[in-house]
Amino acid sequence: MLTGKKIVLGVTGGIAVYKAVDLVSKLTQAGAQVRVVMSEAATKLVTPLTFKEISGHAVAIDMWCANPEFNVEHIALVEWADLMIIAPATANVIGKMAGGIADDLLTTTILACQKPIIICPAMNSGMYNKPAVQENLQKLKDWGTIIMPPAAGHLACGTIGIGRLPEPIAIVEFVKHYLAATEGDLRDLTILVTAAGTREAIDPVRYIGNRSSGKMGYAVAKAAADRGAKVILVSGPSVLKPPASVEFISIESTQQMLDAVLEVYDDVDVVIKAAAVADYRSRKVENQKIKKSGDEGLNLVLDKNPDILQILGQRKKQQILVGFAAETQNLLDNAQEKIKKKNLDMIVANDVTLPGAGFNADTNVVKFLFPDGQVTSLEKMPKSEVAEAILDIVREKSKK
Ligand code: PMT
Repeated sequence: MLTGKKIVLGVTGGIAVYKAVDLVSKLTQAGAQVRVVMSEAATKLVTPLTFKEISGHAVAIDMWCANPEFNVEHIALVEWADLMIIAPATANVIGKMAGGIADDLLTTTILACQKPIIICPAMNSGMYNKPAVQENLQKLKDWGTIIMPPAAGHLACGTIGIGRLPEPIAIVEFVKHYLAATEGDLRDLTILVTAAGTREAIDPVRYIGNRSSGKMGYAVAKAAADRGAKVILVSGPSVLKPPASVEFISIESTQQMLDAVLEVYDDVDVVIKAAAVADYRSRKVENQKIKKSGDEGLNLVLDKNPDILQILGQRKKQQILVGFAAETQNLLDNAQEKIKKKNLDMIVANDVTLPGAGFNADTNVVKFLFPDGQVTSLEKMPKSEVAEAILDIVREKSKK
């Protein structure tokens, strides 16, 4: 989302200004062009030369500069920009923005700016919580300014509390999410993704499970969120961190996954079911750990779990249903059978015996099958790319 984006970064005189240097670096690495405008106070903490070297452009500071890079600099800068970010934004600049004050190049540029403005407030907790600052922030929000809430943690004044400038990588993610939500090609869709394996308890320490890591489903959830979709990720246990900006619902058993999915199903446009769901559960879940007794084996009676996707297929209205099929033999026949049985719009079939495919791999080898019998085969590719290819089809189907 940041490739080619033109960003004016306003930097004000908070101690977190050093992080703004890294922010310029991260934004440019992500493909954006960045021009920096500094307040006079910010130049006392970090030299303009640092920002010039990192951004590759002269830094604007002074209204009365004899040789500005642009003519009528504050106007030219905001005409050039797609977006303005103020980070760190001190209580002072927030107050000036709320009061319409333009007494230096930065505040004049902000006042002249008709493009989206994202501000990242950073200050001591006491200042941040003051009614004056909160009212100013509310006023800016009501006027359409986007506010990234500060982080909590150690503050420069030696206390712990809210007011830290979020890490540059988090600011970049926030900006990407904002751009995705306003420009992404999936921004009008709500997509429910399921990921990882479900677990069925046998006793307090044992369960029936499978080898799913969640990588495939999390890749789909991340790609969909990056393209602006509202994403709900229902996941079984996984060591993976849920992607930023998705609504995350953690479950363990198949019944819990079914309950979580049905809770939101009526309101979603698309379901992508990458989860590996346990087909059976133990009829009896012991309260205490099962002890070994003699030389005899142990018989477990298993009951069939509900087929979540089949239930969704039966209740389908506007939803586009994408299933997965993990097969070890007869890939196409088995997958085609599942399309019909579960009333799907598409199935992503993976032969999990192939190298670089299926469980826990970073890549996958898949075929897309459709109800009319059409089959598209993809080469081995990273799961992130498989996710994009699935979403391209979902995008097309959602237009019909
Ligand atoms: O998580 P990773 O390590 O990245 O691995 C990825 C994966 C191999 C798990 C993934 O690519 C995949 O194939 N997921 C589907 C696994 C599976 O359960 O396949 P299935 O053929 O048993 O089920 C078919 C479809 O019905 C699936 O969409 C499944 O979510 C769904 N299902 C199955 C059983 C059940 N009781 N309820 C269901 O909803």
